[in-house]
Amino acid sequence: MKDKLSKIKKDFESSLKKIADLDSLEELYNEYFSRKAGEMTNIMKSLKELSGEERKEMGALANTIKTAMEELFENSKKTLENNKWETLLETEKIDITQAKLPVERKGHLHPVTLVQNDLEDFFTSMGFMLLDGPELESEFYNFEAVNIPDDHPARDMQDTFYIKNRDNLVMRTHTSSVQVRAMQKYGAPLRMIVPGKVFRNEATDPRHEHTFHQLEGVVIDKNITFGDMKGVIERMVKHLYGEDTQVKLRPKFYPFVEPGVNGEVTCFLCKGSGCRVCKNTGWLEIFGAGMIHPNVLKAGNIDPKEYQGFAFGFGLTRLVMLKYGIEDIRHLESGNLKFLQQF
Ligand code: DAH
Repeated sequence: MKDKLSKIKKDFESSLKKIADLDSLEELYNEYFSRKAGEMTNIMKSLKELSGEERKEMGALANTIKTAMEELFENSKKTLENNKWETLLETEKIDITQAKLPVERKGHLHPVTLVQNDLEDFFTSMGFMLLDGPELESEFYNFEAVNIPDDHPARDMQDTFYIKNRDNLVMRTHTSSVQVRAMQKYGAPLRMIVPGKVFRNEATDPRHEHTFHQLEGVVIDKNITFGDMKGVIERMVKHLYGEDTQVKLRPKFYPFVEPGVNGEVTCFLCKGSGCRVCKNTGWLEIFGAGMIHPNVLKAGNIDPKEYQGFAFGFGLTRLVMLKYGIEDIRHLESGNLKFLQQF
């Protein structure tokens, strides 16, 4: 019995040395001390079978060994628990001295928005209201109200998308659709701009896209002249391209103005001497404008005998393409990150 006891103790000690985690320690403990089948438990039970003196002696010895083993067990448990926290502290450690990791840029404004914001600031600083209107527009506001009747050939210039089963609704082809809406709502005098998306049923190519942006402007008051129009436009293009930029107006037909002009400005790149951007003309064609047609004022419930006004429409998308040297209009609505991340 004595030998058995000291063997048990030795085995226990050598197993204990190999234990590296709390779960295995628990298993080892059960091997020796579980109530049903633990080796040490069995020994303690078998003491009953011994007689008198021997039982006393062996009982005392067994108890000493048992206590010693339990002590060893408790000690390793404490050590393993400490180690566990130390490893945790080590692995979960935050190094507050580490340099900031590079953060990927989340996003930024679209080039069209950048130019639009700039022009909104410019015009609102001159007292213009900033308006918008529906992109899905009635045929009335998009065409009839701005003097393009149903049977007029000018409709052919702006083919658009019609909505199935919704007669009289179209995707607006120009921001001029907001002119009469604004006149009806605010009356005269009026000073407003409308930047926004417009749509055309186009076969797309590097210069044509089904969706693009314009910026419309309207000024209505008593005694407004063609000179006022030129002055405002001149201020705007000088703001965009510098003080030495000149404006050239050439007659052009637009149904909603009379007289109407097509506007060109000095090429910002070559300053007029001719280059790739202006196709060697020295001029860039960027807007249409004119004195508002009396029929349009009438549609907006404004008396053309009392008030006059001018209107202009800038190709906002075109301004953006020129500013950043974008050679294909289709990049702008493509959502292509490789393109967008350049701005
Ligand atoms: N709406 C015209 C277009 O989309 C642009 C335009 C020309 C607007 C002359 C105007 C204007 O207000 O007076 O082509």
